[in-house]
Amino acid sequence: MSGFPLGRPARIAVFASGRGSNLEALLEAFPPENPLGHIVLVVSDKADAGALEKAVRAGVEAVHIPWPKGGRQLFEQAALQLLAERHVDLVLLAGFMRLLSPAFVEPWMGRILNIHPSLLPNFPGLHAQKQALEARVQESGCTVHFVDTGMDTGPIILQRRVPVFPDDTEETLSARILAEEHQAYPEAVRRVLMGQK
Ligand code: GRF
Repeated sequence: MSGFPLGRPARIAVFASGRGSNLEALLEAFPPENPLGHIVLVVSDKADAGALEKAVRAGVEAVHIPWPKGGRQLFEQAALQLLAERHVDLVLLAGFMRLLSPAFVEPWMGRILNIHPSLLPNFPGLHAQKQALEARVQESGCTVHFVDTGMDTGPIILQRRVPVFPDDTEETLSARILAEEHQAYPEAVRRVLMGQK
C-alpha cells in the first residue's frame, strides 16, 4: 500500500549520480508552494555530481553519501536513516547509477520510483539508447516505474515515445528521449501523489 494521496504536501527525496537534468525538471514541478508535494532532499553517491550543485542552487538540502567499493550496505544504512530523519514520503531515482538491495527497496516499495531511457521491458540496464540503436528499433522512449528488487523491472506508471531515425547516434537519440523524460517524470509523480497509480 502506497498510502497516497496523503492529504498534505508530500516530502520528496531525489537520488541522482550525475548532471541532474531530471532533478531540475522535478524541482521546477514541485517547488515548496506545490500543495501536492515538494523536494526536501537530494542525495548523491558522487561528491561532484551536478545534481548536488543544482539542489544547493534551489535551496534544497544536498547530501553526498559515499558508496565505497563493496560498501553498498554503508550507503544504504546512512540513506535509510536520513530519509527517516527528514520524514520523506517518496523517493525518486533520477539518474542514480547504483542498484539498491532488497533491504533498502522493500520498506519503500510503492513509494520509490525510477526513470529509464527506454520503453521497458525493452533494453533495461546500462546504455539503453545504444541498445535500442543496435536493435534497429523504429521507436524508443522513456519509462517511469515503481522500483522493485529487480533491475528496471517494477510496475510501469507511464511511458513516452519518440521516433528513432536511421541517422541517429547515441547522442541524438538520448537528447530526444531526455526531453520526454523531463515531461514524463513530473507527470508520473503527480499521478502517484494523487493516488491514481
Ligand atoms: C537519464 O537519461 C535517465 O533516464 C537515466 O540517466 C539519465 C540521467 O540524466 N537513468 P540526468 O542526470 O537526469 O540529466
